[in-house]
Amino acid sequence: MCGIVGYIGNRESQPILLEGLKKLEYRGYDSAGIAVFTEEGLEVTKTVGRLANLENRLSGDPLRGTVGIGHTRWATHGKPSDVNSHPHTDNSLKFSVVHNGIIENYLDLKEELMLAGHRFLSETDTEVISHLIAVEYDGDIVKAVQRAVKKMRGAFALGVLTEHEPDRLVAVRFASPLIIGIGEGEKFIASDIPAILEHTRDIYILNDGEMAVLTRDAVELMTIEGNFIAKEVFHVDWDIMTAEKGGFDHFMLKEIHEQPKAYHDTMLGRISEDGRSVVLPELKISAEKLRGINRVHIVACGTAYHAGLVGKSIIENLVRIPVETDVASEYRYRSPIITPDTLVIVVSQSGETADTLAALREAQRNGAHVLAITNVVGSSVAREADDVIITLAGPEIAVASTKAYSSQLIAFYLFGLYWAQTNGTQDEATVANILAAMQALPEQVEKILAQAEVIKGVAESISKHDSLFFIGRGLDYAVAMEGSLKLKEISYIHSEAYPAGELKHGTLALIEEGIPVIALITQEGLYEKTLSNIKEVKARGADVLGIINEGHEAEVAKSTDRQFAIPRTLPLLTPALSVVPLQLLSYYASLALGHDVDKPRNLAKSVTVE
Ligand code: F6R
Repeated sequence: MCGIVGYIGNRESQPILLEGLKKLEYRGYDSAGIAVFTEEGLEVTKTVGRLANLENRLSGDPLRGTVGIGHTRWATHGKPSDVNSHPHTDNSLKFSVVHNGIIENYLDLKEELMLAGHRFLSETDTEVISHLIAVEYDGDIVKAVQRAVKKMRGAFALGVLTEHEPDRLVAVRFASPLIIGIGEGEKFIASDIPAILEHTRDIYILNDGEMAVLTRDAVELMTIEGNFIAKEVFHVDWDIMTAEKGGFDHFMLKEIHEQPKAYHDTMLGRISEDGRSVVLPELKISAEKLRGINRVHIVACGTAYHAGLVGKSIIENLVRIPVETDVASEYRYRSPIITPDTLVIVVSQSGETADTLAALREAQRNGAHVLAITNVVGSSVAREADDVIITLAGPEIAVASTKAYSSQLIAFYLFGLYWAQTNGTQDEATVANILAAMQALPEQVEKILAQAEVIKGVAESISKHDSLFFIGRGLDYAVAMEGSLKLKEISYIHSEAYPAGELKHGTLALIEEGIPVIALITQEGLYEKTLSNIKEVKARGADVLGIINEGHEAEVAKSTDRQFAIPRTLPLLTPALSVVPLQLLSYYASLALGHDVDKPRNLAKSVTVE
C-alpha cells in the first residue's frame, strides 16, 4: 500500500502535495517524494524515511511550479531507499510516475527493456512503468499510457506527468484506489479522499480499468481502452477525521474490513497462473536446504504468536515436519535445541518487536536458517532474517492487530504449500485444490463482514459480563486464543481460551449460570467431540455462541444458544474465516463499553523493549 497525490492548477503545487501526502501517511511512510514542473523542467526530489525528511530537504531547495505528483511509500519491491522512492523517471528524465500497487510481470518487462538498452536505477516494479510509457510515447501521453498499461499485469493506481505535455496530468486505476478532485481552475488526484478534502469536496471515484486526463479546467474520463465515459460527481460530506478512516468509526474496524484486500494482495503474484503451484521468488533458501530441514521453531509475540500456532498445524499437516512454537520472550532463555537443519520462522507485523528480534539473533547465532514473516519491508526483522515473506496487509494503525494476523495466516499457507511442493509431500492436485479454496477466501470474508450486525448484538450482551471463555479443538483452539486476546486487549473483559476437551480437568469449575462461552466448531474431524464438550458447559448454565460452518445450523442448534455461520472452506483454511467474527466481537464489545478502541490502555503498537 502506498499513497499518491497529484495537482494541476494555478497555485504552488509543493505545499499542496506535501499536505496531501501527510494525510496519506497511514498508507505507508518508509519514503516519500514529489515531481514538479519547474522552470528547469520536470524535477524530482525524493528521500527515504518519514515525510518530515522530504519536507526538510525541500525547505532548503523548494520545487516551484503549479503541476506536480507526490508519493508516500510502503515498500513492496526493493527496500526503502532514496533510489527506490517514487516518483520514478525514464532514462530521458522526461516522464515521471507515481504508483500504488504491484506489477506482477515487471521482471519480464524489465528484461525486455534492458535488452533494448534501458538502464534502471532502482529495484522497483514502478520504474519499469516510466520506461514503458516513454517507449510508447509518440506525441500523445494518453495513448502512451494506454499502450503501456496494456502490457502490465497486476494492480496499479498511477499518476503520470511528461515534460512534453506540461498541462496534462494522467491518472489510471486498476485494482488500487484513486479519486479525482474537482476544483475551480485546479484538479487533484489522490489515493484517498482526506488528501484533497481541504481543497474540494467534489470528486470522481475511478473504477478499475478507468483513467482520467486532468487539465486545469477539465477532467476527461475514459476507460483504459480509450472509450469516453461519464460519471456523477460525488460530494463528500464527511468530516476530515471520518474521511481518514475511510468512513469507518475506527481504524480497527477499517482494518477488519480491509482483510479481503490484504488476503488478495498477499497472494498476488505468488500463485502460478494455472493456479496449481505457489511461486515465492523472494525466497533464497535452496530446494536442497529446504529438503534437509528436519525441525521448525516458530517464534513470535502476542497475536503474531497466535498466527504461528496456526502455522504449526499448516506445516505439520502439509510437510510432515515437527514444529515447535514459542513465545519470543521465552525462547532464548529456554536454551532451545537449534541445529543447522532447524528452520526458525519469526513472525512480526512491525518487524521491530524486541523479543522477536532477540529470538531471531539467538537462532542465527546457533546456526539456524531464519525466515521472517513480516508486514514491514526494511524493518529490523526483515533486514536481519535470512529469508523474508512480506505480508501485504498495508500499514496497521489500530493497536489491536487484525489484518496483519490474517495475512500472516495467508503467508503460512503459501509457504507450507511451497515447501510441500519442494519436498513432494503433497501431490499437485491437493496443492491446486487448497490454492483454489484460498482464492475464494477474500469473497468469503466479505460475506462474513456483511453480517457484522449479528455479531454486534452478541457483543453488546457479552459486554455486560466480567469474564468469559473461548473453547475449541485443534485449529479452532488456536483461533480461540486469538479471539480471547483480542477481547481482553480492547474491551478489558477477562477471558480465557481453552482446548474444549481440557475444561473438565479443572476449569469447568468456573462455569456457572449465564457465563458466555464462545465455542468454535469448524473442524470436521473433531466436530462430535467438540459438541459433547459444549454440552458439558451448557449443562452448567453457560450461554453458548457457536462459530460454525454453514450448513451445520440445524445440528448445532440443539447444543448452542446462538450461532454464527462462516462460509464453507477446507478445514485447514477455516482460521482465515473464523477469526473475523471474533475480531468483530471484540470491536463491538469495546465500543459498547465506551473504550478507546484504537488505543487501548497500557498498550503500544510496537513493543521495542524486552
Ligand atoms: C495484539 C497485538 C500484539 C502484537 C505483538 C507482536 O493485537 O497486536 O499482541 O501482535 O505485540 O507485535 P509484532 O507483530 O509487531 O511483532
